[in-house]
Amino acid sequence: MKLYADTANINDIKRLNELGIIDGVTTNPSLVAKEGRDYNEVIKEICKIVNGPVSAEVLSITTKEMVLDGIAYSKLHKNVVVKIPMTAEGLKATKELNGKGIKVNTTLIFTPLQALLAAKAGAAYVSPFIGRLDDISQDGMQIIQDIVEIFQNYEITTEIIVASVRNPLHIRDAAIIGADICTCPPNVLEQIIKHPLTDIGLKKFLEDWEKSRK
Ligand code: E4P
Repeated sequence: MKLYADTANINDIKRLNELGIIDGVTTNPSLVAKEGRDYNEVIKEICKIVNGPVSAEVLSITTKEMVLDGIAYSKLHKNVVVKIPMTAEGLKATKELNGKGIKVNTTLIFTPLQALLAAKAGAAYVSPFIGRLDDISQDGMQIIQDIVEIFQNYEITTEIIVASVRNPLHIRDAAIIGADICTCPPNVLEQIIKHPLTDIGLKKFLEDWEKSRK
């Protein structure tokens, strides 16, 4: 399973990229707003750091404006993927951008059928938000299972990005189900590196080695 960093923070992206574990980056307007920077500048900087798809979300709601925003983003770097919200206007924009050879990541997906529609419109990626479903007591991971099954049934090549990830168990379950990609906040990616038994084991190995040399 590919791992993406779900952040617009440059320092976090640099740190994770150095670990050699991230395959791409997703951003959204809330994440970029937190950085207090221009959206385009942030995307250009991320593309210089990470050699993989970088999702930039449109800041408009009509098909016409979304297509224009998408074209502008696609000119920033060859790895830019345009994030389009899952609405009727968004589906039309997806079809149009796909026709121009611009990759779309359909965002704010909360049901398997929304994912099917996005794929039919030509999305290269779909982003179901599992954490936000869990937050309202619905089983977020179940929709990942359902989308994986539906896409397999019809040999749909749209990649599934598990989004709105809150904890390491989300990543584990996404991998077991067979999602293509999991996009994770930096702190969650860093949580999965560590295990207390690894630290205890390493300390013991080094102590035993030192003892043997005395
Ligand atoms: C996905 O691409 C979104 O950026 C993100 O995963 C949303 O997560 P949140 O529900 O934690 O805001």
